[in-house]
Amino acid sequence: MTDTLHTAPSTELLTDDPTWWRQAAVYQIYPRSFADSNGDGIGDLPGITAKVPYLTQLGVDAVWLSPFYPSALADGGYDVDDYRDVDPKIGTLAQFDEMIDALHAAGIRVIADLVPNHSSDRHVWFQEALAAPAGSPARARYIFRDGLGDGGELPPSDWTSIFGGPAWTRVADGQWYLHSFASEQPDWDWDNPEVREDFLTTLRFWSDRGVDGFRVDVAHGLAKSLPEVLPSKAELDALPKADGDHPLWDRDEVHEIYASWREVFDEYDPPRIAVAEAWVEPSRRARYASASGLGQAFNFDLLEADFDATQFHDIITYNLDAAEASGSSTTWVFSNHDVVRHATRYGLPALDGRDVKQGAEWLLSGGTSPEVDVETGLRRARAASLFMLGLPGSAYVYQGEELGLPEVADIPADERQDPSFFRNPGVDIGRDGCRVPLPWAREGSSFGFGPGDAHLPQPSWFGEYSVEAEDADPTSTLALYRAALAARRDLQTDETLEWLPVDGRDDVLHFVRPGGWHVVCVFGTEPVDLAALGLGGAASGGAASGGAASGGAASGGAEVLVASGPLSDAGQLPGETAAWLRA
Ligand code: NOJ
Repeated sequence: MTDTLHTAPSTELLTDDPTWWRQAAVYQIYPRSFADSNGDGIGDLPGITAKVPYLTQLGVDAVWLSPFYPSALADGGYDVDDYRDVDPKIGTLAQFDEMIDALHAAGIRVIADLVPNHSSDRHVWFQEALAAPAGSPARARYIFRDGLGDGGELPPSDWTSIFGGPAWTRVADGQWYLHSFASEQPDWDWDNPEVREDFLTTLRFWSDRGVDGFRVDVAHGLAKSLPEVLPSKAELDALPKADGDHPLWDRDEVHEIYASWREVFDEYDPPRIAVAEAWVEPSRRARYASASGLGQAFNFDLLEADFDATQFHDIITYNLDAAEASGSSTTWVFSNHDVVRHATRYGLPALDGRDVKQGAEWLLSGGTSPEVDVETGLRRARAASLFMLGLPGSAYVYQGEELGLPEVADIPADERQDPSFFRNPGVDIGRDGCRVPLPWAREGSSFGFGPGDAHLPQPSWFGEYSVEAEDADPTSTLALYRAALAARRDLQTDETLEWLPVDGRDDVLHFVRPGGWHVVCVFGTEPVDLAALGLGGAASGGAASGGAASGGAASGGAEVLVASGPLSDAGQLPGETAAWLRA
């Protein structure tokens, strides 16, 4: 570990605007699967640095890096051995500094993933806890309990972990520790002042190195209140989740922790930002997003929705109102490292209701049943993404979605890595299929991911979705994202929209943003006549089906700025297609 403090270079491209995050386009990098510079099959920090020109051309405002800390990878890096270092498998602190300098020099901010609910079982404090006796201060940093039964041989409760299997693991002297996730991820005890202080040190450590903000993992889990006699799983499950008093989740006291973090964020100029990963009732999100707390919270509502106009409309309306009431901006997410990629989800039959587990059954079948309609999935994903990028608020884009990358379903069991696969056999196939290393080239041992192989197997069709294949194709999904992100920078103004009526069509959404920026999406399969929406004269002219439309305005008519597919010459926007227009 180097001990020289890093000072971020001043760069003209990074403004000191403290509100930069409110409508930022943030690109999520899962470092181990992004780009591998040394051929060991694992993506690394120099790999990210080498791709800064790609990110610049893509046009994102910030990157969020999933964990890059030392880790045995029991949960893809969300099992952290040391919060203030870089995993030697993916780089060094000096390489972290080089990466952040390169990103900043390109005007791209950096958000680090912070994992405060649990460490890994290799963390020095957990190792101390194991070596120390029951009741010792070292054990008090985690949640240790005696077991039930005459010899304490039964776990303190029948709770199951989020990944399946028991939530308690027994240690050598007979005590048990709580882990909400895998057994390699012991939960911290946030009532312990030492734990609180240590995380403040971590926040300062990365902020001093130039990190612009934090994505806070399981933000709703830190505060816990465990009575002497623990409730059973059935009792726990029956308790209300949204009254701030559940023993494990979304307790009101968690916000005291974030208030103390806010004091640290505000020590910096511009203040460091944070976004909460809080799986809570929508009505409870605002407190995580408050200016005296983390400032922003993920809104996963679109990620759980079908490709459906009514669902989209209601979710957007609700979240824009909620964001305004909280003083924050909202966030939009379709894909991340935990869910089936949306290009695949949208090619599966709709679930007819919101569910984060969309695609789970299909994954369990090895990707065979129900049959996925790849073309439809991609067409809808492109439309949905363009529509989403037109919304007020921050857009979170997961690596590979800009390529229209589908989920990989047929990973052999002996190559799977995700703990949810191992802890929940036959029920959960795990999340490896959205974490397969990115294809950068049409061919090669890892499709250009690196000079060697990839740590998860890539399917033979991956090259078709590679950056190389899409780079020069004006109709590619990559071209669409580039065009949309570039146009968004120019068009983005106030965080407002006005819904416009679409007569006779409940499968079409149309809104306008300040400055005459119109966004239309057809969710059904029938085309819509743009003239009927007051956007007459619009036609794609020779516009590419994917990227920016050129020459898209008939004289006096609306100008097509970007479209997710080709418009007809008669000024019709086809089914399952979105467009941005200027009237
Ligand atoms: C949420 C993260 O997104 C996920 O990948 C991880 O497994 C759990 N939190 C536990 O850290």
